[in-house]
Amino acid sequence: MKKIHAAITAVGGYVPEYALTNKELETMVDTNDEWITTRTGIKERRILKGENQGTSVMATEAIRQVLEKSNTKAEEVEVLIVATVTPDYLFPSTGNIICENLGLKNAFCFDISVACSGFVHGLHTAAQFIEAGNYKKVVVVGADKMSSIMDYTDRSTCILFGDGAGAVMLEPNHEGFGVQDAILKQDPVGKDMIILPGGGSVHPTSQETLDNRMHYFKQDGKNVFRHAVRGMSSTTIDVMKRNNLIGDDIAYLVPHQANLRILAKTAEYMGISEDKVTINIQKYGNTTAGTVPLCLWEWEDKFKKGDNIILAAFGAGFNYGSLYLTWAY
Ligand code: UT7
Repeated sequence: MKKIHAAITAVGGYVPEYALTNKELETMVDTNDEWITTRTGIKERRILKGENQGTSVMATEAIRQVLEKSNTKAEEVEVLIVATVTPDYLFPSTGNIICENLGLKNAFCFDISVACSGFVHGLHTAAQFIEAGNYKKVVVVGADKMSSIMDYTDRSTCILFGDGAGAVMLEPNHEGFGVQDAILKQDPVGKDMIILPGGGSVHPTSQETLDNRMHYFKQDGKNVFRHAVRGMSSTTIDVMKRNNLIGDDIAYLVPHQANLRILAKTAEYMGISEDKVTINIQKYGNTTAGTVPLCLWEWEDKFKKGDNIILAAFGAGFNYGSLYLTWAY
């Protein structure tokens, strides 16, 4: 029997209106546009403003587009996977809130906490449902409201992150297009290098965790940088080798947008030119689980049927990996 492939059939994205520029950050912490631009490539990032606005707000809008573009009725969606480290609540899952917002009444849903690699892990997981032949409409959304966990007194982190969401519809493809292969890895050497220490079961919220600013994102940037270049390049090169691909065969690398210098190094190791790398970090910064699907959203019109595309991500955990797919439309 011919293998069923899981193919992306529509992409949606959502970024909030408010743009926090490097200039505005200069008024908040001791930083400057030149440092941020040369060290990271970021010029501005979007921030979700307003009372009671959580990650689900952005994810809902991204998925609404996906339903429209793929001519899918809400009740046809069978599975919803939400990749996020900034869920609306610890529980219920953000998926439940999105299902209510959009009327996904026949879907089961769950959140996955794989930080920057969340969308790639979610997509690989979702592909299994389709490839097994049991499901025909699976939605994956990567969404984060990073502004909710940023310490806007810490110049080493607050300049990096923004808010956003991107989503895809996955459906069976019988022509061989879609997800082809993935290499996903983890390395606990990084478990303390990117962390939100407070509010979990080790350090439940207390006056002490608040006083010690433990509810904010913490990162050992320099060490993470080193591991990110090595990790993302290694799984990308391995997935290329395993599928007999060389640089010339690749139409696009769609990498997690953490730092322009990491993207440039990964492209160099792959042997591809930078014009084959999707880059929107200058506009949105690092939206964690949102970066990869937001790139797919912005480049959707440029992709052609049959294009070899590699998604690659690296983040907290460490969790990282690369997924090879062929574009289906
Ligand atoms: O998405 C999850 C995965 N995360 C990543 O992949 C992030 C990886 N890491 C990075 O992208 C980079 O390490 C950063 C962008 C976070 C930092 O860049 P860096 O080149 O590694 O800078 P650094 O941390 O070594 O800092 C260099 C200097 C320091 O000053 P001294 O000690 O040399 O005097 C910092 O205090 O730059 C200073 N600095 C800043 N200066 C102006 C740190 N942040 C800032 C800032 N503005 N915002």
